[in-house]
Amino acid sequence: MTDNAEVMIRVLIVDDIAETRENIRKLLQFESDVVVVGAARTGIEAIEMARETEPDVVIMDINMPDMDGITATEELVRDVPFAQIVMLSVNNDADYVRRAMRAGARDFLAKPPSADELISTIRALSVFAHEHKDKLSQSLPSVVVQGPGGGQTGSLRPEGKVMVVYSAKGGVGCSMLATNIAVGLDTADTPTVLVDAALQFGDVAVSLNLQAKNSFIDLASRAEELDAEFVDEVLLRHSTGLRVLAAPPRPEVADEVTASQVRNVIQFLKRNFAYVVVDTSSNMDDITLAVLDVADLLITIATPEIPSIKDTRLLFDLLGVLEFPKERLFFVLNKMDKRSGISSDAVSENLKCTVDAEIPLDERAITTSINRGSPLLLSDKGQPAAKSIFSILSSIKERVLIDVLDEEEEIEAERTGLFSR
Ligand SMILES: Nc1ncnc2c1ncn2[C@@H]1O[C@H](COP(=O)(O)OP(=O)(O)OP(=O)(O)O)[C@@H](O)[C@H]1O
Ligand SMILES: [Mg+2]
Repeated sequence: MTDNAEVMIRVLIVDDIAETRENIRKLLQFESDVVVVGAARTGIEAIEMARETEPDVVIMDINMPDMDGITATEELVRDVPFAQIVMLSVNNDADYVRRAMRAGARDFLAKPPSADELISTIRALSVFAHEHKDKLSQSLPSVVVQGPGGGQTGSLRPEGKVMVVYSAKGGVGCSMLATNIAVGLDTADTPTVLVDAALQFGDVAVSLNLQAKNSFIDLASRAEELDAEFVDEVLLRHSTGLRVLAAPPRPEVADEVTASQVRNVIQFLKRNFAYVVVDTSSNMDDITLAVLDVADLLITIATPEIPSIKDTRLLFDLLGVLEFPKERLFFVLNKMDKRSGISSDAVSENLKCTVDAEIPLDERAITTSINRGSPLLLSDKGQPAAKSIFSILSSIKERVLIDVLDEEEEIEAERTGLFSR
């Protein structure tokens, strides 16, 4: 467990009135353990800032334009689950308090709060936030964290998680989503590698503006005897720090890579990174099967078009035959547009499955980002498509986290079972 005394308390202030934001900031400025990480003017701005700044405590006004504090709280507790929310309002009546608590707020202060009550509330709630964060980081699939040049820094944690992005139909947005997810998952605590397993025509390096001087080919021939230093030399490095394993430079050399080499490479990367995000081609060949075999989460994409939905049905049938666990499937509808006439409910009904997320059609933002070689999450965070991807990031992190917690519970149950015999 982290020593809370050494950890700063990250506070986000949300109020539409500039003076109130400033007053709260002033009340907190001399607290050496508190840092104000942002000040938002509306509920929508608060959600965006909270996703980016990961505050421990959010001081939230109730009445604000565009989205009120109670609705923002409901979204925030889903997106940033460790953040503890304190409602701040002149309306101290029971109904407001009840609604705020139901939405997920942890405390309620009348406006204007005194410095003492504000600070003591923040300190008390920060303990819960830090505990929640500690739990997350302990169960996060982090691994032997690499130092510069591939040297290990020595922190040993569980194996990483493999997230595969696949669609039975081409051109639906797999590479776009894989690239953005990888950029979003990659942090100092959770180093991430993006693997382009679309071996023939992979375009991950290009869409990140990287020169693919090394590729899968360099690792494949030594797949049986990989070492961290050599792998580190082969992986490309994006300006954000994200590591990338590029597809072979020409389609004809892709055939030199075998399915078992792909499996070995991914398994090696899994031991060295917290997340391995794999982009695939839509061919259901032995390479794709090898990738599916090691997937902790399969993110599959369809678009609201009949051929794509038909291919997704065939894919689901095949996954059934392969006994791929349903809970490892995360289904995304991309390029959603009212004009297509196909709603997510209709797709869900037709395929008898849950649609886990939707990304709107946004040709301008997405085409520009791909042509610039800069993922949407880096260049155009405010766009609706980017917001959907942020929410996908939260959901998939939770999904693999539940997986880890389940595994831990199973181990614990086995352990206690053994002792109680
Ligand atoms: N939400 C979206 N709105 C608009 N255009 C999109 C969206 N998502 C992806 N695109 C566009 O769709 C095209 C295909 O995207 P992408 O290359 O990511 O798909 P893919 O499934 O990887 O395709 P391939 O089968 O060629 O590998 C690209 O031109 C991309 O700009
Ligand atoms: Mg692709």
